[in-house]
Amino acid sequence: MAAASLSISIPIVAWAIWILLCGKCLDNALHQLLVAAFGSSALQLKQAKALRETRWWSSTTAQASSNYSSACLWDGITCNAGGSVTTIDKSHSSLGGQLNKLNLSFFPNLDRLDLNGNLLTGLIPIEIGMLKNLVYLDLHSNMLVGPIPATLGYLTNLEYLDLGLNYYINGSIPPKIGMLKNLTTLYLDSNMLVGPIPSTLGCLTSLDSLYLGHNELNGSIPSEIGMLKSLTSLYLSSNMLVGPIPSTLGCLTSLDSLYLGHNELNGSIPSKIGMLKSLTSLYLSSNMLVGPIPSTLSHLTNLKYLDLRQNQINGSIPPEIRMLKNLTFLYLSSNMLVGPIPSTLGHLTNLEYLDLRQNQINGSIPPEIRMLKNLASLYLSSNKVDGPIPSTLGHLTNLEYLDLRQNQINGSIPPEIRMLKNLASLYLSSNMLVGPIPSTLGHLTNLESLGLSRNKINGFIPPEIGMLKNLIVLGISSNMLIGSIPFSLGHFTNLKHLDLSRNKINVSIPSEIGMLKDLSYVNLSHNFISGEIPSALGTIAPLLTLDLSYNNLMGNIPSSLTGIQRLDFSHNSLEGQIPDGYALYHTSNTLNGNKDLCDQFKNFPPCPKDIIEATEDFDIRYCIGTGGYGSVYRAKLPSGNVVALKKLHQREAENPVFYKSFINEVRVLTEIRHRNIVKLHGFCVHKGCRFLIYEYMERGSLFCVLRNVDEAMELDWSKRVNIIKGTAHALSYMHHECIPAIVHRDISSNNILLNSEFQGFISDFGTAKLLDPDTSNQTLVAGTYGYIAPEFAYTMTVTEKCDVYSFGVVALEVLMGRHPGELLSSLSSSSSSQNMMLNEILDQCLPPLNRQIGQDILLVATIAFACLHTQSKSRPIMKCVSQEFLSRRKPNPIPLTVISLLQLWKQAAYVAGSGFAYC
Ligand SMILES: *[C@@H]1O[C@H](CO)[C@@H](O)[C@H](O)[C@H]1NC(C)=O
Ligand SMILES: *[C@@H]1O[C@H](CO)[C@@H](O)[C@H](O)[C@H]1NC(C)=O
Ligand SMILES: *[C@@H]1O[C@H](CO)[C@@H](O)[C@H](O)[C@H]1NC(C)=O
Ligand SMILES: *[C@@H]1O[C@H](CO)[C@@H](O)[C@H](O)[C@H]1NC(C)=O
Ligand SMILES: *[C@@H]1O[C@H](CO)[C@@H](O)[C@H](O)[C@H]1NC(C)=O
Ligand SMILES: *[C@@H]1O[C@H](CO)[C@@H](O)[C@H](O)[C@H]1NC(C)=O
Ligand SMILES: *[C@@H]1O[C@H](CO)[C@@H](O)[C@H](O)[C@H]1NC(C)=O
Repeated sequence: MAAASLSISIPIVAWAIWILLCGKCLDNALHQLLVAAFGSSALQLKQAKALRETRWWSSTTAQASSNYSSACLWDGITCNAGGSVTTIDKSHSSLGGQLNKLNLSFFPNLDRLDLNGNLLTGLIPIEIGMLKNLVYLDLHSNMLVGPIPATLGYLTNLEYLDLGLNYYINGSIPPKIGMLKNLTTLYLDSNMLVGPIPSTLGCLTSLDSLYLGHNELNGSIPSEIGMLKSLTSLYLSSNMLVGPIPSTLGCLTSLDSLYLGHNELNGSIPSKIGMLKSLTSLYLSSNMLVGPIPSTLSHLTNLKYLDLRQNQINGSIPPEIRMLKNLTFLYLSSNMLVGPIPSTLGHLTNLEYLDLRQNQINGSIPPEIRMLKNLASLYLSSNKVDGPIPSTLGHLTNLEYLDLRQNQINGSIPPEIRMLKNLASLYLSSNMLVGPIPSTLGHLTNLESLGLSRNKINGFIPPEIGMLKNLIVLGISSNMLIGSIPFSLGHFTNLKHLDLSRNKINVSIPSEIGMLKDLSYVNLSHNFISGEIPSALGTIAPLLTLDLSYNNLMGNIPSSLTGIQRLDFSHNSLEGQIPDGYALYHTSNTLNGNKDLCDQFKNFPPCPKDIIEATEDFDIRYCIGTGGYGSVYRAKLPSGNVVALKKLHQREAENPVFYKSFINEVRVLTEIRHRNIVKLHGFCVHKGCRFLIYEYMERGSLFCVLRNVDEAMELDWSKRVNIIKGTAHALSYMHHECIPAIVHRDISSNNILLNSEFQGFISDFGTAKLLDPDTSNQTLVAGTYGYIAPEFAYTMTVTEKCDVYSFGVVALEVLMGRHPGELLSSLSSSSSSQNMMLNEILDQCLPPLNRQIGQDILLVATIAFACLHTQSKSRPIMKCVSQEFLSRRKPNPIPLTVISLLQLWKQAAYVAGSGFAYC
């Protein structure tokens, strides 16, 4: 009231200035004043105010029009003769904020509201139902959310309704939409609409375009859709629609595009679909449609685009397809089509794209294919196509993509392939192609991908391949190629992927490979490639995978390669130091099966350099003993690991007997692995270096431990029994699990080493012999005096039983704490020692036995005696001994004080003669 009375007394001009300075402060009272001054209607003022409050018009625009009482001259606004707004068109104007900033209740005359392509958010206001005159409503491509207000159903003049591409408009489609009788266009696609398609949409008889795709609509397609006689575009793709395609769709005779793909539609394709004479695009892919392609489809002579991919359509391709003269794109892939490719397909001369992948099409490629002059892409992969590649294929000079992978195509690659000048991708892998790669392939200078893997292609890689300057992918793995890798001729400067694995390539890798600066994948594995690995490979920055496994590569691994992410050098003849840092990025598996690699990994030997440093060039201070044929050193490596080295000295190396033993030990120990056999970490047999590297055994030999009073006491009965058992298991493994069997020939307490926990390990395989059925077992004397089986002296024949005897001696030695010596001979002849009691011969260092260990000792003694039988055939085999030790059965607990050696001897003979219980 105060403002109004004040305004009367102040000149209008002054007010106008005030408004300019403080336009935002205008209130209704002021509007009334301005109406009085300029003669605008109250509605115009309200509309201008409502529009201004949206801030969709910059204040300068509003001011430039110099008219606050009416918006009619603002951009995007039109008014009727009465000055009331009829059009608001602010499409693609980067408008943000809530849509309801525009108070729709002020625009009763609005017939066109176009806010398409902005960033408006919020709900669609229910007040929209008040715009009774609205003909055109476009809110496409905003960020509106929430449900479609049912009040839209009141906009009976609406002809165009587009709420598409808002992504978050949800809820179901209000059935009231069916009241919009004048609607010609309804776009609700690309939102989150759920529920069924309301059957009331069948009432929209003026509808030309219905787009409901990319929502979450479910239920079946209402047959009432068939009433939309004016429809030209029906787009229901990418929903969750179920049930069959209603045959009423056949009534939509004006239909140009029918998109039902990516739903869960089932049943067969209705033959009525053949009535859609105007159809140019039919898209039914990714459903669950069954049955054959209806022959009525051939009536759709305007069809340009036919997509039936990814269904379960069966039967054969109907020959009538020839009538679809305008067909440009034909997709039938991923179905269950059988039978041959109809030769009539050749009539589809407009075809640019033919995709028959992943069916069960058989027969050969019809020569008529040559008529498809416009074809740019031909996919026939993953079928059962046989026969040769027709040479007429060379006529398809527009072809850019040819994919015949995974068929049964045979014959050779026709030289006419050279005519496909536009070809960018040629995939022929996984067929039965034979013969050489035609040199004419070099003419395909646009080729980017060449896949010929898994065929029976032979001969050389033609040097002309080097002319394929645009090649990015070259895959010719699993063929029978021989000869060289023709990089030196080539300028494959774009090559990224090179796979020549599993061929018979037998020359070396040219160092020019380093010039291929884009390579990221190189697989040359499973060939016969020789020579050294070019270090230039390490200069190719993008290289991520380098697989050179299973070749004959020699020399060192260049350190430049360590940084490549995936490497495989296994199964070659590489040698020398594994490059620094290799172990940080790669496992030792990538180096397995090479000749002489050293360092970095636990399962590889240290490099000779390290060894020489660790032992100060085999200084006597590091010598810890003498083996069968060389000195043994203790070496602490830079890694902290301690290893034992057995070195064959120069003088010994010149002795052929010693040298043979050394090589023999290497040969045997690299073949075998057992818990109770000393582990060979590595060896070195070249360039004047001859040594073996073993696991280091802290306690030295059993021989020495038994003879050192302190250590012998530490070696209590249970430890002794375990050593004997372990030795038995290891011998059983060598005799019965290794093929050919290995006889050690020098089992003695000297050759059983003990680790820090007094566990026993058989060592020194210098005299071990492989019992090969094809070679004589006759041999020279070997072994240690006092452990050699008596029969060996006159048969000179190696058998497993020699080891059994030696084992018996060692077992007895462990029980007695000393070598049994003459006891051995006296046992078999009658002598006073036979009357000795078992406990009398046991090692006196140890405290008296408890009952349980007594049983173990009795078992060991019985077995030892059985093994010492003078007749080799009466001795048990080690497998039986090992199993006897593993069994839980124990001899009767007789005190050892009452068992005489004679009794034991007889008992042993009986046990061995009758066979062991568990053997
Ligand atoms: C403002 O618009 C009204 C209604 O269109 C018109 O009558 C009036 O002349 C305009 N004033 C100016 C200053 O343009
Ligand atoms: C629109 O304007 C009317 C009349 O002034 C008012 O009643 C209503 O609340 C307004 N609506 C909104 C959403 O601001
Ligand atoms: C629909 O969208 C609105 C606004 O984002 C949301 O609050 C509501 O939970 C949604 N409704 C459903 C059923 O998702
Ligand atoms: C629909 O369109 C017709 C013809 O253009 C027109 O006569 C009619 O008034 C419009 N509105 C309704 C509600 O039918
Ligand atoms: C359709 O979806 C709605 C909401 O997601 C669900 O409640 C209804 O059961 C579904 N109907 C069918 C037929 O799957
Ligand atoms: C095929 O396409 C041509 C050119 O687009 C058109 O004139 C013709 O009517 C179409 N239909 C048939 C059956 O040829
Ligand atoms: C050598 O001994 C093995 C194992 O006892 C036996 O299989 C092989 O036949 C023997 N070789 C010959 C030539 O007797």
